[in-house]
Amino acid sequence: MTIGIIGAGALGSSVARALAKVGIPVTIANSRGPETLADLVKDIGPTLKAGTLAEAAAADIVLIAIRWEDAEKVLTALPAWNGRIVIDGTNPVAFLAEGSPERSDPTNPLAAYGIKAIDLGGTPSTEVIAGFVPGARVVKAFNHLDVSVLAEPTLNGGQRVLFYSGDDAAAKAEVRAILEKMGFFAVDLGTQAAGGPLAQLPFGALSTTNFVKV
Ligand SMILES: NC(=O)c1ccc[n+]([C@@H]2O[C@H](COP(=O)([O-])OP(=O)(O)OC[C@H]3O[C@@H](n4cnc5c(N)ncnc54)[C@H](OP(=O)(O)O)[C@@H]3O)[C@@H](O)[C@H]2O)c1
Repeated sequence: MTIGIIGAGALGSSVARALAKVGIPVTIANSRGPETLADLVKDIGPTLKAGTLAEAAAADIVLIAIRWEDAEKVLTALPAWNGRIVIDGTNPVAFLAEGSPERSDPTNPLAAYGIKAIDLGGTPSTEVIAGFVPGARVVKAFNHLDVSVLAEPTLNGGQRVLFYSGDDAAAKAEVRAILEKMGFFAVDLGTQAAGGPLAQLPFGALSTTNFVKV
């Protein structure tokens, strides 16, 4: 079983680090090419390989860790998925440029965090992502916590709770096994329609709440 990560920013690199801690090999890609990831690979260690987008996307299980605004263009250009697993780590938010007036927009409750919500008209965001990766078995995970805590699955003797959801039971079982190996306390929120919106940022009832199972 191979794992690829598309996106090597805050989310992708944090998950790569947590996977490396338990010795799980990963191929990670960014938009600028593998050579630009040399420092990250050196820092994380030999289980992490920098690859091209095509190499990361060819894995058995592929984590999507790119910004919402890039998702459609990047994902719809990839080859067929043929039942491979996609983990959707994205959220439907737009990142606001440093110093932009939108950062102090009083009508945006998320302005202080440097993001704004993207209106999907009530469609669960992972449903939108699933439309960009036809033939993939999609599981939503890793999206609901700040990356600063993702690299630490255990805390004071407890396990950080990581929610996941999806419609394919076998795919969810594979993802669950990885989450558990990483040290998380994995909680199945059910189907994409039921569980996805609960953990979806910015306003899902279970998003951003950082539970620890003691
Ligand atoms: N930040 C968080 O705390 C957090 C937590 C949970 C979920 N998320 C979600 O995770 C996603 C990524 O957020 P982030 O904070 O990690 O963003 P980020 O730091 O800006 O990283 C985005 C990454 O996507 C890469 N990328 C863009 N286009 C690409 C392409 N064509 N091929 C391969 N890689 C490409 C970028 O590559 P370059 O570096 O070359 O530009 C960068 O490595 C978002 O949907 C966000 O909502 C974020």
